[in-house]
Amino acid sequence: MKPVLPHAQLDWDDHGRPRSRVFDDVYFSDQSGLDETRYVFLEQNRLAERFAALPADGRLVIGETGFGTGLNFLCAWQLFEQHAAAGARLHFVSVEKYPLSPPDLQRALALWPELKPLADQLLKHYVAIHQGFQRITLANGRVTLTLLIGDALEQLPQLDAQIDAWFLDGFAPAKNPEMWTAELFAELARLAAPGSTISTFTSTGWVRRLLNAAGFKMKRTPGIGHKWEILRGEFLGWPQDVAPPAPDKPWFARPAPLPGERRAMVIGAGLAGCATAASLAARGWHVSLLERHAAVAQEASGNPQGVLYLKLSAHGTALSQLIISGFGYTRRLLESLQRGTEWDGCGVLQLAFNAKEAERHAQLATAFPDDLLHWLDQPEAQKQAGVGVAHGGLFYPEGGWVHPPALCQAQATQPNIELLSHRDVLQLRKVDDQWQAFDGERLLASAAVVVLAGAAEIKRFAQSAELPLKRIRGQITRLAETAESQTLNTVVCAEGYVAPARLGEHTLGASFDFNSDDLTPTTAEHLGNLAMLEEISTDLLARLHLGDVPPEQLQGRAAFRCTSPDYLPIVGPLADREAFNLAYAALAKDARQVPDIPCPWLDGLYVNSGHGSRGLITAPLSGELLAAWLDNEPLPLPRSVAEACHPNRFALRSLIRGTR
Ligand SMILES: Cc1cc2nc3c(=O)[nH]c(=O)nc-3n(C[C@H](O)[C@H](O)[C@H](O)COP(=O)(O)OP(=O)(O)OC[C@H]3O[C@@H](n4cnc5c(N)ncnc54)[C@H](O)[C@@H]3O)c2cc1C
Ligand SMILES: C[S@@+](CC[C@H](N)C(=O)[O-])C[C@H]1O[C@@H](n2cnc3c(N)ncnc32)[C@H](O)[C@@H]1O
Repeated sequence: MKPVLPHAQLDWDDHGRPRSRVFDDVYFSDQSGLDETRYVFLEQNRLAERFAALPADGRLVIGETGFGTGLNFLCAWQLFEQHAAAGARLHFVSVEKYPLSPPDLQRALALWPELKPLADQLLKHYVAIHQGFQRITLANGRVTLTLLIGDALEQLPQLDAQIDAWFLDGFAPAKNPEMWTAELFAELARLAAPGSTISTFTSTGWVRRLLNAAGFKMKRTPGIGHKWEILRGEFLGWPQDVAPPAPDKPWFARPAPLPGERRAMVIGAGLAGCATAASLAARGWHVSLLERHAAVAQEASGNPQGVLYLKLSAHGTALSQLIISGFGYTRRLLESLQRGTEWDGCGVLQLAFNAKEAERHAQLATAFPDDLLHWLDQPEAQKQAGVGVAHGGLFYPEGGWVHPPALCQAQATQPNIELLSHRDVLQLRKVDDQWQAFDGERLLASAAVVVLAGAAEIKRFAQSAELPLKRIRGQITRLAETAESQTLNTVVCAEGYVAPARLGEHTLGASFDFNSDDLTPTTAEHLGNLAMLEEISTDLLARLHLGDVPPEQLQGRAAFRCTSPDYLPIVGPLADREAFNLAYAALAKDARQVPDIPCPWLDGLYVNSGHGSRGLITAPLSGELLAAWLDNEPLPLPRSVAEACHPNRFALRSLIRGTR
C-alpha cells in the first residue's frame, strides 16, 4: 500500500468544473470562481493597495490552506502584476494534501481564458511535484510559489516563514473539518507576520471563534453570490493565555538582515555558485561571480553528463526530504533548457544488482508514489532500458541526465550577475562592513555579502577552515555511441551509471578515490568504470564494441567531489568559530542548555558547499535556501532540513561531544 494518495480524485460537472470525490465538494464557487476568489481573498486582504505600496525591492508573502487548482494563486499573481512596482516580489506558500495531476490541473485552469498566460507558466513548471516542500520559480524569479505537499497539520509546523496575508480555502468546514482546527489555526498564528491579514469564504461561527482564540480578530462581512456572509480579520498577536511557541535555537536563528546596498560576491562558479548567484540576482541583488578558471563549470560541475540520481530513504530522513525537494526544483529549472543537448528527461533505472539493494528497492517502492518511482521486474526493466539487463529495479520516470555546464551557464548569465573569471581568491578580509577578496595583495572585489561556493577549496579561508569538507576524486569515461548502443533509452545505474548518448557520446561514471590528489585521468579507473558497466549491462558493453579501443586510449575526465561527514550539504550563514565555542561552552556540560546568547555571526559571510555526488539535485535548491536565509524569506525546505544543512551543526556537535 502506498502511504499517500498521489493525486486528487476528481469528477467534472456539465460545465467542466472539478469536484472532489473524496470530500464531495467543489473547488470553487458554482457561479463565478473568479469573482469569488477576487472578492473573498484579494479584496478582503486589501491586496491591490498592498501590492501598489510595495517598494521596488519589497515583497509580500501570501499563505494558503488548500492549493487545489491554483486559481487563488493565479488571481493573486495577476493582481500583483497589475499593481506592484517592477522590482517587487510575490511569494505564495500553499499547502495541499491531494495535488491535482498535471492533466487535471490543465483541464481545470482551461476554464479561465483570461488567466491563460499565467496558467501556462504554472503548467510548464508543474512537474515532479512530490511529498514535502516543492518550490517553483516563476516570472523570471519575480514570483515564487512554495507548495507544501502533504497534510496541513504535518507540513505547516515545518514551515519557517512570516506570512503577510492568509487565504483559508479548505473545503467547507462540515466536509473537511481537519482544515479548520484550533491546532491548525495556532500554526497560522505562529507564522503570521505582525499586522497579517486573513480571510475565508466561510462564516461558520465555530471557525470564527477558533480563529479569534488563536489571536486573529475576525469580522463577518457581506458575502458574494450565494454566500451571505464571509470572514475577514487581522492578526493581533499571540494570545496572552497560550504559551508562545519556542524561539529558534540561537545558533540556528536568522542573522539580522544587513542594511544598505544589495551587493554580493559569490566565490566559485560551479553548480553551487551559479545557483546562488541566480537566486540572489532574481531577488534584485547585484552579484559578482568570481571564478579562478576562464569560464563556469570547469571542475566537478564540468562533466558532459551528470545523472539526476535519487538515493532515497524510506524513513523520511533529512537527506531524503532534501533530495525530493531538490530533485523537483532542479527538474523544473531544466524545463527552460534545451532537451537533447543540455538535458534529457529519459528516466533513470536503478538496478537491484544484489540482495541488499533489492530489499531497499522493495521498501522504497512501497514508501513512494508511482509517479516518483516504481518497481520494474527484469523483463520490464530490460524493455525500459532498451538494452539487456540482468535485474529488475526502480524506475524514476521523471529523472534523466543533465549537461551540468549548461545549467551553470543558464544560471550565471541571468541579469544582475557579472562573471569575473581568472580570479583566484586566496584570502578574505573584512574592512568596515565590506568583505574584500584578495589574490595576494591584489583586491579582486568587495561586497557586504560573500558566499563561499568553491567546494572543498573554501577550507583555504581562515573563516571557513574548520568546516569538515573532504575531496573525493572521481573519473568518468566517455564512450562513443555505436549504431547498436542507440537503443539505450534511459539512464541505467548499478554501482555506476551510464547515460544515453549526448552528441554521440555516452558518459559512464564514476570512480571513487579517497586518496588521490591528481586529476590526470588514469587507465586503471577507466577499466574500473568498464567493470561497473559490465555490472549494469553486458549487452550494452558488447554493443559499444570496446574491444576495438585499446584501454589506454579511453577518454574521460576527473574532478573532485566535495563531501561532508553526514553527506548533507553545508548551506547557510557562518559564525566565528572561536566566539561560538565561547558563547555556547555550557553545552559541553549539558547538551540541553540553550544559552540566551546571540550567535556570533561573521556578518555577511555565507557558505554553499558539500554537495558530494548529487550536486545536480542539491545545489540549485541550496541557492534558494541561501537566498532565503539572507533575505529573511520563507525557507524552501522544512526548518529541520535547513538546520540539518546549517554550517553551525558541526561546531555544535563538537561542543556537545567535547571534541573541539
Ligand atoms: C566524476 C564525478 C561524477 C559526478 N556525477 C554526478 C552525477 O551523476 N549527478 C550529480 O548530481 N552529481 C554528480 N557529481 C557531483 C557534482 O558534480 C558536484 O556535486 C557538483 O558539481 C558540485 O558543485 P560545486 O559548485 O559545489 O563544486 P565545483 O563544480 O567543483 O565548483 C567549484 C568552483 O569554485 C571554483 N573555486 C574554488 N575555489 C576558488 C577560489 N578560491 N577562487 C575562485 N574560484 C574558486 C572552482 O574553480 C570551481 O569552478 C559528480 C562528481 C564527479 C567528480
Ligand atoms: C476548496 S479547495 C482549494 C481551492 C484552491 N484554493 C483553488 O484556488 O483552486 C480545498 C483544498 O484543500 C485540500 N485539503 C483538504 N484537506 C487537506 C489537508 N488536511 N491538508 C492539506 N490540504 C487539504 C484539498 O485537497 C483541496 O485541494
